[in-house]
Amino acid sequence: MSFGIPTVFVSMATGTQGGALARQLRGLGWNVRATVRDIHQPKAKALLEIGVHLTPGDWDDVVALRAALTGCTKAFIGYTANLLDFEAAPRRARLTVRLAREAGVTQAICTTTLGTAMLDEGKEPLIAPTPLFAQHFASKRFVEQAIEDGGFDSWTVLRPGFFMGNFLDPKVWYGYADVPRKGEWANVMTPDLPLGLIDHEYIAKFAAAAFQDPVKFNGIRAGLVTEELPVQEMLDQLAVAIGDGRTLKAHFMTDEEIDKAVASNSWAVFSRERCVRYMGNLANTKELEKLVPGLTTFGQYLERESELVKSTYLLA
Ligand SMILES: NC(=O)c1ccc[n+]([C@@H]2O[C@H](COP(=O)([O-])OP(=O)(O)OC[C@H]3O[C@@H](n4cnc5c(N)ncnc54)[C@H](OP(=O)(O)O)[C@@H]3O)[C@@H](O)[C@H]2O)c1
Repeated sequence: MSFGIPTVFVSMATGTQGGALARQLRGLGWNVRATVRDIHQPKAKALLEIGVHLTPGDWDDVVALRAALTGCTKAFIGYTANLLDFEAAPRRARLTVRLAREAGVTQAICTTTLGTAMLDEGKEPLIAPTPLFAQHFASKRFVEQAIEDGGFDSWTVLRPGFFMGNFLDPKVWYGYADVPRKGEWANVMTPDLPLGLIDHEYIAKFAAAAFQDPVKFNGIRAGLVTEELPVQEMLDQLAVAIGDGRTLKAHFMTDEEIDKAVASNSWAVFSRERCVRYMGNLANTKELEKLVPGLTTFGQYLERESELVKSTYLLA
């Protein structure tokens, strides 16, 4: 630990958002501490190599969390969704908040999902989520509430839209595999409505900016979308980036098809949740650009990730 240099606890450090943030904070010369479930896995080793301090343990491991939080004054908090146990994430958030406060953390940032904005006071969704996803959004909202009520000097809530990385390895294999396998994406959007896309590096950039200016970012719930694109246009750009002449086709599901997905209890958001059609309305890219400039377009993202685009689609 170096004197005067902030020390930040980062959850999901081996994951997409947490990993990007850990790298960006280390780039600033800050100290980063995290728990990891398997200290020998390649992503954990990569974190160790850039000087992230790791403690073995998971989100329920009080001893590991307490050790990882030692010396931290800032915390980035987030959890994966658990549709079998909606209580898990709020319970873990309350635990982490308690331990973070005990450790002396004064600033907390949490990351949830754009859908929670539907639950804000005065917001009426144009299309309500199905009961399953209403519970999912409520679970995420409880996580936000735990951070907001945690007694920190500064809190910020990040609500990311649709990850640009959903079509690349590894996320593509969990819900979007038809894109590489069949050249098609069946989805609940309509041809004219744009999808609110987010680059995970921008999520990290936003969090890093907030950590550097706790007063300015205190009390902000930010919907994070860096570009809005109609689905077919997005797939066309992806096909060009793959570069082997293939086409990728959006299949806009009929009402009948969507109802069938809901009845079968499919968990795939974009096969069943009509409410995501208007998710873009929950973010304001112009305001975001003013707050943290440099919103990534999908084109810029694909260019930056060109090697991953090729390995996902040409080596699969
Ligand atoms: N994909 C989207 O379009 C989208 C949009 C909005 C919000 N989100 C939200 O983003 C979140 C996922 O974030 P991400 O994509 O950055 O993460 P990710 O890449 O899926 O990685 C998940 C991280 O969580 C860790 N983890 C999982 N279960 C754990 C446990 N029980 N104890 C400790 N660590 C655990 C994993 O560690 P290991 O390395 O040990 O597995 C990994 O670091 C989800 O909550 C999702 O709802 C996603």
